[in-house]
Amino acid sequence: MSTHKLLLLPGDGIGTEIMQEVKKVLAWFNARGTAQFETEEDLVGGAAYDAHGAAISDAAMDLAQASDAVIFGAVGGPKWDGVPYDVRPEAGLLRLRKDLQLFANLRPAICYPALAGASSLKRDVIEGLDILIVRELTGGVYFGEPKEVTDLGNGQKRAVDTQVYETYEIDRIARVAFDLARTRRGKVTSMEKRNVMKSGVLWNEVVTQAHADYADVELEHMLADAGGMQLVRWPKQFDVIVTDNLFGDMLSDVAAMLTGSLGMLPSASLGAPDPATGKRKAMYEPVHGSAPDIAGQGKANPIAMIASFAMALRYSCELITEADLLEKAIAATLDKGLRTADIAEAGDATISTTQMGDAIIAELNALSA
Ligand code: NAD
Ligand code: IPM
Ligand code: MN
Repeated sequence: MSTHKLLLLPGDGIGTEIMQEVKKVLAWFNARGTAQFETEEDLVGGAAYDAHGAAISDAAMDLAQASDAVIFGAVGGPKWDGVPYDVRPEAGLLRLRKDLQLFANLRPAICYPALAGASSLKRDVIEGLDILIVRELTGGVYFGEPKEVTDLGNGQKRAVDTQVYETYEIDRIARVAFDLARTRRGKVTSMEKRNVMKSGVLWNEVVTQAHADYADVELEHMLADAGGMQLVRWPKQFDVIVTDNLFGDMLSDVAAMLTGSLGMLPSASLGAPDPATGKRKAMYEPVHGSAPDIAGQGKANPIAMIASFAMALRYSCELITEADLLEKAIAATLDKGLRTADIAEAGDATISTTQMGDAIIAELNALSA
């Protein structure tokens, strides 16, 4: 039986509520006995700032480095609006991504059949949707230097963020996208703004060069603004979308709404395989944030978080049967008409975060009986 070391970082707001539901799923798999999960838990985000004055402690970073995978809830909230920029809650998440070198962020957007009516888009636009956004996660304007605000002394300030990409960063994320497309429908759409940005010109060039090793995969280039429009107009034209850190952030929130709710979209953030062991550092987190507007009310949809754990089973633990089982349990729960408020249609009864977690456990029991 395989043993897997997980670090749980619930974070802030609904992060703690949805992590409770993952803990139930973890306990279920531990009791089932086909794999064993050893977990540690620590603070991140505003919770870590309140305790240590930093958005993640060095001790928590050490635990993250030593784990097979980090399971991350969400960070941020109005309570920390005024804290210094370097220790704001989101800095904890960015440090995890950067220090663990999690350059490849996989954000799958799937329309579950039962939710085809829950999206704000028409049913035929999203029915059967299955796309994957591959977002570059450790470069671009998020991390480029200089990044600063200068006081110009005349009552004006000047703020600078820098978009930087080097060849190797674009090449490795393009290859992740091509490799994944091979396991899917064989198409990659690369999105940048080469009409305005030098980094977009390089992005386009490097992706095209990498494509030479993937003759069996179709490559299409699209300007990122047009890509946003096409995602809403006819999203089923896409299979894999590869794009930079900032465009990927925005486009994946758009993609989330194709699935009905931000509360549905999971993600995996992966590093390069270790040459010695073949293992990748990894973190799994929902695409959504800490949802301060509904935090503490038991309304959060835990599916994005639980589906992120399913991705951990698949990509970090090689527990493919278990990942399939958990994803089936989520689909079966939705098929039964169980809905948290964010995915309810007019007239639907709604259930709480805890009830949704319990319903998924009930389906796990039913499917494995
Ligand atoms: P958000 O994703 O937290 O919320 C946007 C909207 O979606 C809200 O109306 C919220 O109620 C809803 N929503 C999100 N997740 C949901 C869920 N699981 N179930 C039901 N409804 C859900 O984005 P925001 O309000 O712009 O940001 C709030 C805070 O979260 C900010 O501090 C932001 O920086 C942070 N944030 C963190 C992460 C992260 O930790 N990975 C991601 C995005 C935003
Ligand atoms: C996301 C979030 C983060 C990002 C924030 C919280 C730093 O929006 O994971 O999508 O911008 O990457
Ligand atoms: Mn985002």
